Amino acid sequence: MVGNIWAKNQSGPRIVCPLQHPLTGTLAVPGDKSLSHRALLLAAMARTPSRLSGLLDSWDVRSTYSIIQQLGAKFSGPWNNLSVQGWENKRCPGPLPLDCGNSGTSMRLLAGALAGGNGCYTLTGDSSLNARPMRRIVEPLCFMGADISCTADYTAPLLLNSRSCLRAIQWELPMASAQVKSCLLLAGTQAEGMTVISAGAGCRDHTERLLSSLGVGVHSHSGTVQVEGPAQWDGFRMNIAGDLSAAAYPVGIAATVPGSRITVSGVNLNPTRLGFYRILRRMGAAVTWKVRGVEMGEPWGDLQAEYNGLRGTVIEPEEIPGCVDELILLAVMAASAQGTTELRGAEELRCKESDRLSSTVRELLRLGVDIRERKDGWTVHGPTRWQSGQVCTHGDHRLEMSLAAAALAASPARETIIEDARWSAISWPSFWGDLMQWCS
Ligand code: S3P
Repeated sequence: MVGNIWAKNQSGPRIVCPLQHPLTGTLAVPGDKSLSHRALLLAAMARTPSRLSGLLDSWDVRSTYSIIQQLGAKFSGPWNNLSVQGWENKRCPGPLPLDCGNSGTSMRLLAGALAGGNGCYTLTGDSSLNARPMRRIVEPLCFMGADISCTADYTAPLLLNSRSCLRAIQWELPMASAQVKSCLLLAGTQAEGMTVISAGAGCRDHTERLLSSLGVGVHSHSGTVQVEGPAQWDGFRMNIAGDLSAAAYPVGIAATVPGSRITVSGVNLNPTRLGFYRILRRMGAAVTWKVRGVEMGEPWGDLQAEYNGLRGTVIEPEEIPGCVDELILLAVMAASAQGTTELRGAEELRCKESDRLSSTVRELLRLGVDIRERKDGWTVHGPTRWQSGQVCTHGDHRLEMSLAAAALAASPARETIIEDARWSAISWPSFWGDLMQWCS
């Protein structure tokens, strides 16, 4: 047993006891996942070599890496200072499918990047990814002239028969999704003319910022973004800052364990990703951030969080895109808060790595949380009198990490057993080791 966290082996259940002391100190988290995917893809599409540092080394990012390598990109140097020679006239992988594993970002962004040019590609994934909705990208890509097909249920595998000329289109997204917007932006860089996407306000804008830093004509205005094609760009250097979504876990633990005070240094501070921190602040936690620099259009800096008690709040539909990956953790925060917290307008959570409305409710009920599922969200009455219990991850990395945060806050329960706790490697392979170190 190291501190509060114990496991018989790496892939077995984790046994977690509540923290009996505050979480303090300065921590670092791994590189941002969204930026890592995009940096790799934009480097693969560039005319000249690029150099990337701080890239997240996780299962999801490795999926993007392996696929662009299969398509002809060349890598050299260590992972933390990687040289990337683009795929130029990307090659067909023959009959081999391109395996995106669990990664929706890999599949949706690659579909956009591969839609132009000439070649036949099959994009597939694991059983979770192959059940996720793809109509949202298949329809607009077909409208742009791409030859793309999928199952009758509009799920992967996706079969792409690329043609050299794509048409620029105007498209209104039926949901606020940065993955879909980015897919169409990448396709738009290969189309003739101005592609205009109404994406709704608030979803992450990394693709726009990076493309704009590379000199591509991208303009955003009140929820609409347009890209001028065809566009080409040169290689670039980028140091990828820490992941705000990963930083949310230690910040969440600090906000629920009395006496805690932490700094997370060197994280990306893109304003479209700060929703969790704004809501936590509204709930009463002392959370601040300070920008220290800008890299390829992306602000980065330090986050500070201090325990100050928590009270319930309402999370409104327009806030969802800014905290979409932190909503399971917000249910844990709500469980520790005084009063009622309500989440509204979050149906999109049903199409993530698990159905995150039902999986969250199911597992938190086992720990004694007063939580009720609704069609578009949940309602939590806090504070919780935590119970010891056995929970499972539903194959969802964010649920696993949120359950770890719950288990550390779960006083007076004795212990929480988290079954199938191996999915954090999707976005944070050293998650359990880092947590043990911080909590010891
Ligand atoms: C991501 C966008 C979000 C998020 C995902 C990463 C991205 O998905 O949930 O983890 O990198 O663009 P949606 O845009 O589909 O909501």
